[in-house]
This record gives sequence, structure tokens and C-alpha cells, in this order.
Amino acid sequence: MNSTDAIEQTVKYVRNELYGEASGHDWWHTFRVWQLAKCIARHEGADMVVVELSALLHDISDSKLNGGDTELGAKMAREWLINMHVEPEVVEHVVQIVHDISFRGAGVTAKPMTLEEGVVQDADRLDAMGAIGIARAFAFGGYKGDVIYDPAIAPKPHQTYEEYKNRKSTSINHFYEKLLLIKDLMNTDAARRLAEHRHSYMEEFLNEFYSEWNALDIESTIPASI
Ligand code: ADP
Ligand code: NI
Repeated sequence: MNSTDAIEQTVKYVRNELYGEASGHDWWHTFRVWQLAKCIARHEGADMVVVELSALLHDISDSKLNGGDTELGAKMAREWLINMHVEPEVVEHVVQIVHDISFRGAGVTAKPMTLEEGVVQDADRLDAMGAIGIARAFAFGGYKGDVIYDPAIAPKPHQTYEEYKNRKSTSINHFYEKLLLIKDLMNTDAARRLAEHRHSYMEEFLNEFYSEWNALDIESTIPASI
């Protein structure tokens, strides 16, 4: 099968698997990562077929959502690509990217990656930023059972992936634990540029959130008619 057909078939497969997923890892997340990854790949001169297939398959089975199996996504990607008769070197490269792509927490040492892996990781991270990133943080927080905000729970930096994954926190704290750190973790220049606006938008959102929150204590700001 040629690569255009393999990509088209993969779109159908992934859309079918992920459509309507409720934690922010639905088909439209994958679709956005795919589009962003193509744009970054063009700027960076990365291999388009590897980037597109990896972006499409990167969340085919997320360990956070499948009961903790960190190998299943890569296994599903390998089986699918072999079935599509994709070239063996492309299969191996895509499988490695799907396996490694997940965020493992800030400060957790990253191992060296190929340009194509860097591109897909950047695209995935960009989708966690900006207005869409804000929407996803609260969707995921609600799915996980976190509250929106609790002034009594301070954000805490984490050292290990286990710590990052298991701790009870709030969706607002997730901004300090991950979302505001992402812009400095980008692998490519193209993504660094795209991250700037999304980053300032999140800062603006947090300022507005706190100003509304802080106003709650001030009785005189409540209109007399209520
Ligand atoms: P991906 O699986 O797409 O690589 P993640 O699984 O780390 O990325 O996150 C998926 C989405 O859920 C992101 O938008 C992320 O910010 C959000 N998210 C992850 N963990 C939390 C959390 N503890 N609280 C709120 N949102 C979270
Ligand atoms: Ni993702």
C-alpha cells in the first residue's frame, strides 16, 4: 500500500477508535496534533510519512486510560502498520515514537530523540496549551475527579513520573505543574514560536481567574440588586 493510502486508512482507524473519548484524548485531539505536526514538520524538514503516522497513532492506547499498560499503544501501532504493509523501517520508527511520546513529567530526564519524534512531541504539547489546552485541562481534571481550584492545595513540583501521575491536585495547579513549563521544553523552533501566544493566553486566563476569585471576598463588589 502506498503511504497516502496508509495515512488515509490510519485516519479512519484512529477516528473510529477514539471518537467521543471523554478525557480530552478524543479523535479531535489526535486530529489537531496531526495538523500541527504536519505544519511543524514542513518547517523543520522532517520525514512527513513518519510524522503523520506517528501523530495519528500517538494516543491509540494511552497508559493513563487503559489501566496502566505502557506497551499497548506501541503494540497496537505495530500490528496496524504491519497490516497496512508499511515499510519495516517506517514501522519501527513510528512504533518507537508512539512508545516514547507520552509526557513523563517536567525535569524527568528525556532520552535522545529523532527529529520526527521531536516534531510529534511538540505538536502534542502545543495541544495542551492555549485556549484548547485550558479546555482540556478542565476536561481531564473532571474526568480524573479533581476540583477546579482549591486555594488550600498548593501546586507542587514533581521529580518522578509516578509522583506526577498519582498525586491528588487541582486543575488550576496543573498549569504550574505542567502547562506553564511546556513552552521551554519545545524541541523545534517552529513549535517554540507557536507556543508563545498560547503561553501568554494561559497567563492571561490565570490572571482573570484569580481576579474573579479574589473579588469573591469583597462584599462591596456584589451589585446591590442581588
Ligand atoms: P497526551 O496524552 O496528549 O500526551 P497528557 O496525557 O499529559 O498528554 O495530557 C492530556 C491532556 O490532559 C492535556 O491537555 C493535559 O494538560 C491534561 N492533563 C493531564 N494531566 C492533568 C491533570 N492532572 N489535571 C488536569 N489536566 C491534566
Ligand atoms: Ni496526545
